[in-house]
Amino acid sequence: MAENEVVETSEAQIAVHWKEEAYYYPSTEFIAQANMTDKSIYERMSLDNFPNCFKEYADLLDWYEYWDEILDTSDAPCYKWFKGGKINASYNCIDRHLAKNKNKTAIHFVPEPLQEGYAHITYQELYVRVNEFAALLRDFAGLKRGDCVTLHMPMIPELPITMLACARLGVIHSQVFGGFSGTACADRIVDSGSRILITADAYYRSGTLLDHKQNADVAVEHATKDGQVVDKVLVWQRYPGKYSAKTPMVDGRDFFVNDVLKDYYGARVEPEKMNSEDPLFLMYTSGTTGKPKGCQHGTGGYLAYVTGTSKYVQDIQPEDVYWCMADIGWITGHSYIVYGPLANCASTVMYEGVPTYPDPGRSWRIAQDLDVNIFHTAPTAIRALRKLGPDEPAKYNYHFKHMTTVGEPIEPEVWKWYHKEVGKGEAIIVDTWWQTETGGFLCSTLPAITPMKPGSAGPGMPGIHPIIYDDVGDVLPQGAGKAGNICIQNPWPGMFMTIWGDRDRFVDTYFTRYCKDPNSKDWRDWPYLTGDAAVEAQDGYFRILGRIDDVINVSGHRLGTKEIESAALVVPEVAEAAVVPVVHDIKGKEPDLYIALKPGFEASEELAKTINDTICEEIGKIAKPRKVWIVKDMPKTRSGKIMRRVLGAISNKTDVGNVMTLANPEIVEEIKQMVQR
Ligand code: WT7
Repeated sequence: MAENEVVETSEAQIAVHWKEEAYYYPSTEFIAQANMTDKSIYERMSLDNFPNCFKEYADLLDWYEYWDEILDTSDAPCYKWFKGGKINASYNCIDRHLAKNKNKTAIHFVPEPLQEGYAHITYQELYVRVNEFAALLRDFAGLKRGDCVTLHMPMIPELPITMLACARLGVIHSQVFGGFSGTACADRIVDSGSRILITADAYYRSGTLLDHKQNADVAVEHATKDGQVVDKVLVWQRYPGKYSAKTPMVDGRDFFVNDVLKDYYGARVEPEKMNSEDPLFLMYTSGTTGKPKGCQHGTGGYLAYVTGTSKYVQDIQPEDVYWCMADIGWITGHSYIVYGPLANCASTVMYEGVPTYPDPGRSWRIAQDLDVNIFHTAPTAIRALRKLGPDEPAKYNYHFKHMTTVGEPIEPEVWKWYHKEVGKGEAIIVDTWWQTETGGFLCSTLPAITPMKPGSAGPGMPGIHPIIYDDVGDVLPQGAGKAGNICIQNPWPGMFMTIWGDRDRFVDTYFTRYCKDPNSKDWRDWPYLTGDAAVEAQDGYFRILGRIDDVINVSGHRLGTKEIESAALVVPEVAEAAVVPVVHDIKGKEPDLYIALKPGFEASEELAKTINDTICEEIGKIAKPRKVWIVKDMPKTRSGKIMRRVLGAISNKTDVGNVMTLANPEIVEEIKQMVQR
């Protein structure tokens, strides 16, 4: 081995030693009522039948004009699905249900404070509110088809109302997770070119009514500095008619939606007949380098895919109460709280607050009160509920037929607790693997057809054909016992269309690595690189092992190490920053931040705090490091690369391996003394 060659022990290599768990099977009761029980779906949606097989999904929707070409690959790898089709997402999620179901609850809203009752918004009420707000957006805010608007909203019903009003007009919405800071919101305003910001005055989090409006002021100020002027800020009120924030309204810029809405009483807005490939929304996601990527999702393809997967994987039936305990600010909420369920005419639950507030029984009381029977959440929430109230589920009288886990690998131990305690041994579980970019599920079992296996996401979804390549591009077959880079061989309707304003980055990040011919217009030459490491077992089930790049998954949210590092570098004293993931039993991972100072500066508690605060300000509290370690020097290779692997081993108290090839091996012991003390 060459002197400066360092063997990386990847997460992947370790994980292939995990043992395969035994199958769990769905009950006959579940199978008897399921939406999809026809095993031939895998055959119908095989690669041989691609892309025509996705007609099944398109036919779940109402089209103004039916499409004439299922998949246009002329601009590969930017694909157009259902070309020639005209459609509106708001119409498909609301209007088409009115004739039979106007009286059905579309959204059950659960406020965090216990003394506030549940709200049940019917499809008729949703229709009225979406129309009136769409009229306001068009006539008061001057928004029109093709414009982009930034939303920075908490989990209140006005969020889906705003999204659906935008969709009605063909306005592209870009919702920024409510917990993100004003600065993070500003970056997304600038990148998307929004001149309108839609926000809310306040919302509840762990019993406190937070002033959310203050973030809008920071966002507008920063965006203006970066060259994007925001003309109007539309402020929804948590309590209509009452202002719940302390931050003053800015005259001529900020408007209370509820005041202006009075002028639009009774307004109805004809849905825009959108082209299938017109963008529906942007969802920003972190990458390893540079600024967040605006994943641009289309209309017809996206909606068809989330509608089909909600129906067949979530198994939503007309009489079900479906609760996805995610935030709409993430893709899970867009696809599986709002668009997929509503297109299926489901009753979808929205909870404002923290699952364990004011006590660990809260989630199960909500389930009991609303008689929820389909439950959807992330391993991070499951771990928290398990830690804080392992015996709570048994105390409440609810019965789930179906549960989902999403967002990160779930440990078999935690899976089993979820199955036995939360699911009371009755519910089936689907472990759904997918990404912001992919719009909907990539791998999952089909609940009535393929058995469950703890710790494995399952086979590729019907019509989705994963493949694992090793680093040199050879295929790792089923049962190879080796981890590699999991890719998808074919395009699918839910996949994003491009990165907003940056086609080159889209191609580079997701396709270049395994592209067979950069000039090809044939989809077969453009495998999609997911960026995850995975192993495929003998039975064709995929176990996802984590990112091959440097993204840290904190509580199910993806944070770029580079984003955190660049935020730390805003502090003038900081010379170098390196972020490594530390295993945390509830959040999954937490970032540990290593800092080297510029010469002439001294480490101090205050400086560490400044760095910590800066990160919270730049990105949001979610990126808060577990600890800021100010070190004398970073462990480096002789070519000057920071050895994050070594720092990661120190933070996680695992073996740092052979460090003698480093440029400065002595520093390792010094850092160890400091961190592991
Ligand atoms: C990354 C995508 C999918 C919506 C929420 C997160 C990881 C996601 C699983 C799963 C193992 C998973 C992957 C993926 N991931 N689901 N079931 N098992 N890992 O969306 O923020 O875009 O993150 O989350 O690493 O690439 P995201």
